[in-house]
Amino acid sequence: MTKILVTGGAGFIGSATIAEFQKYGHDIYVIDDLSFGNRDFLTIPDVCFHKLDILNGHGLTEVIHKIDPDWIIHLAAIHFIPYCNQHPFKSSNINTQGTINVLNAAKSLKNLEKMFFASTAAVYPICDHAIPETQQTNPLDIYGLSKLAGEHLMNEFYLQTSIPTVVCRFFNAFGPNETNLHLIPEIQKQVNSGLRTIELGNLDPKRDFIHTYDMARAILLLLNKFDSGIDVFNLGGGQEYSVIDVVKEFESQLGEEITIKVDQSRVRKVERMHLLADISKLKAFINWEPEISLSEGIKTLLNY
Ligand SMILES: NC(=O)c1ccc[n+]([C@@H]2O[C@H](COP(=O)([O-])OP(=O)(O)OC[C@H]3O[C@@H](n4cnc5c(N)ncnc54)[C@H](O)[C@@H]3O)[C@@H](O)[C@H]2O)c1
Repeated sequence: MTKILVTGGAGFIGSATIAEFQKYGHDIYVIDDLSFGNRDFLTIPDVCFHKLDILNGHGLTEVIHKIDPDWIIHLAAIHFIPYCNQHPFKSSNINTQGTINVLNAAKSLKNLEKMFFASTAAVYPICDHAIPETQQTNPLDIYGLSKLAGEHLMNEFYLQTSIPTVVCRFFNAFGPNETNLHLIPEIQKQVNSGLRTIELGNLDPKRDFIHTYDMARAILLLLNKFDSGIDVFNLGGGQEYSVIDVVKEFESQLGEEITIKVDQSRVRKVERMHLLADISKLKAFINWEPEISLSEGIKTLLNY
């Protein structure tokens, strides 16, 4: 049984990841300040849950040393891009200083075997093709920049400790327990409230959606297999869908027509038209394929 600390474990991706790891009997500990997460997403005992801000360096070191984990999965961050743009200092401070604090505490652990960092596709520049990990980074916003800083901090951590470190660039996650009003939960919210004319922003951008169940499977396989060095992997579904494609999936699951009204206040000033992962490196390394399609995932969400 591996002792695993998940920072930000009470969030959207963290809770799905923990549910997957629990199937294999791993011993899970969570640090989360519940600013976005929810304690009820987790089925771990209270002694394994620490409500703590990762900006509290002393408290964090004390708790991490008490847990003494074999693996750390560092997910705690502020990641909703509109929120990050509205609160640039607060969000980038949590994403960088918070990461420094986690790594400072981790450096002096005696038994730490592996480190995992949730980075993002937002570190990439605008690209019209499937993006491989070799693509030069060039973030468009403060969120992507703060996560790129996190990647550099991971590199520094690896150089100082030689602890195997995985950096995973997540594309657009979807699934149950979403904590931020991204596109799919926004449509779900409007449709569930009975609306059949829904208001959205720009309709043309395409995104690579991946179900959190498939992400969790990939994270587990990656951590099981990765045992030396530091490396970067894209984690997406490998297929892109426009906003209209997503609405069509809702229509087909509901068996009803949905009309879209463009709300200009939701249209982003700077927008990527494409964001698609090249996931060949990840597939080859862990022999993994996404299992839940967009339509299957939306069907489950509507019944959730
Ligand atoms: N959701 C996506 O599509 C997506 C895409 C790319 C990368 N990511 C990355 O994946 C990770 C998880 O994202 P998510 O979608 O589950 O988001 P989330 O907001 O649901 O989860 C983040 C968790 O971190 C916690 N947290 C925030 N600030 C904290 C602090 N100062 N101290 C302690 N805990 C704190 C929140 O309460 C929350 O539970 C993040 O690092 C995010 O940047 C997510």
